Amino acid sequence: MFLKNPQIGALVLLLWQSMAVLILSIPTDFSIAGYNPYPTNAHKLHIAQLFEQWMETHEKIYSQPEDRTRGFENFLRNYEYVNGRNANGGHSVGMNNLADLSNEEFREKYLSKFQMGKRRERRVGSDNERNYESCDAPPSLNWEEKGVVTAVKNQGQCGSCWSFSTTGAIEGINAITTGELISLSEQELVECVTTNWGCNGGYMDYAFEWIIQNGGISTESSYPYTAKDGICNITQANNKVVTIDGYQDVPPNDEALLCAVLKQPISVGIDAGARDFQLYKEGIYNGNCSSDPEEINHAVLLVGYGSENGTDYWIVKNSWGARWGNQGYIYIKRDQSLPYASSICTDFSSLGYNFSNYNAEQQELVQLFEQWMKKHEKIYARPEDKARGFENFAKNFEYVHKWNAN
Ligand SMILES: *[C@@H]1O[C@H](CO)[C@@H](O)[C@H](O)[C@H]1NC(C)=O
Ligand SMILES: *[C@@H]1O[C@H](CO)[C@@H](O)[C@H](O)[C@H]1NC(C)=O
Ligand SMILES: *[C@@H]1O[C@H](CO)[C@@H](O)[C@H](O)[C@H]1NC(C)=O
Ligand SMILES: *[C@@H]1O[C@H](CO)[C@@H](O)[C@H](O)[C@H]1NC(C)=O
Repeated sequence: MFLKNPQIGALVLLLWQSMAVLILSIPTDFSIAGYNPYPTNAHKLHIAQLFEQWMETHEKIYSQPEDRTRGFENFLRNYEYVNGRNANGGHSVGMNNLADLSNEEFREKYLSKFQMGKRRERRVGSDNERNYESCDAPPSLNWEEKGVVTAVKNQGQCGSCWSFSTTGAIEGINAITTGELISLSEQELVECVTTNWGCNGGYMDYAFEWIIQNGGISTESSYPYTAKDGICNITQANNKVVTIDGYQDVPPNDEALLCAVLKQPISVGIDAGARDFQLYKEGIYNGNCSSDPEEINHAVLLVGYGSENGTDYWIVKNSWGARWGNQGYIYIKRDQSLPYASSICTDFSSLGYNFSNYNAEQQELVQLFEQWMKKHEKIYARPEDKARGFENFAKNFEYVHKWNAN
């Protein structure tokens, strides 16, 4: 548990301390209190000290003594793993905010409860893929530096990664097209996208579809994150500030992904289950990471790419807080020889449309909309959906026109 409110944090800490005093002041055997905090040999005592510091840094509070003991045992094991791993070179791992979890607990608490790649097959080979055949890519790109990526968020112990990946892509395309970076609501998606499973996982495609159907998504501040499942609040969900007209899947190859990320930050699904991923600190990640779509268990946001000492990498924004990884980010090795996108491990769906292609006069709008539909292979199931799509299109067109004039 991470406390957002420092006052409450202080209060609980105080309670914890007085409880600890109470337990320690029992004059007889510790085991009567059921709590032998740490084993006694010197090495373990040293790590116990590090654990105390780590708890303080990460404002970690365990409600049960057993939880604390288990946390310490995991910490100890991870500490030994980190030392061994870092001696081997390559990316480095560290005692980050997930360092008191075993790899099994980490998978259980932070990753999707089901394999997210399952739905993918249906879409591979679709004609949308033609749009990304090749492109002229500069040697590096970082959307974060261009000011279209919000600060790193923290999903907490809720398998809602898909909602953060979704908002990230929409925040990006919205900032690129309107010039305004607006943080959007994950909680709304967790509670309202009934085709997904809230804290148990979900697909970005379903979230995009829901936002289109709803006619938009609220801001982070008007529908704040709680890291819990809940009932969709219609009042808050009606506070629509940003909408999209469509989304597209990116075909599963490196070049297509590169071309797609040139246009905007992209929602991607990856395998994040390795202990190296859990404890990642910095450098170009080259740890275990399956390229089998069946192994996808996490969703993130691809915000760019680069190259260092001849090694290509993707820049990936995660949703485990700024204390995880490299200030919340991970650099993942980009292996162009793999059949799928790279070691980034396959499956991506993206939002894609570019308003700046449309700058004709008002009376040509309908025609432009038809062309746009054709280009994006957009099909509306019902006439009223098409009508609403056009309405949004017209409003956005006007906005883009005004914006570009300034
Ligand atoms: C929904 O949100 C509104 C505005 O924040 C709030 O006043 C209302 O109590 C919420 N409704 C429910 C059922 O939580
Ligand atoms: C949008 O399209 C225009 C014209 O094709 C192009 O110059 C511009 O770079 C594109 N913008 C984005 C963000 O893709
Ligand atoms: C990588 O995966 C293999 C096979 O699953 C496993 O044996 C190995 O220990 C893993 N390595 C790391 C660093 O996690
Ligand atoms: C790249 O090379 C420089 C100079 O040798 C070194 O300092 C740096 O750590 C290297 N980067 C990586 C990611 O290996």
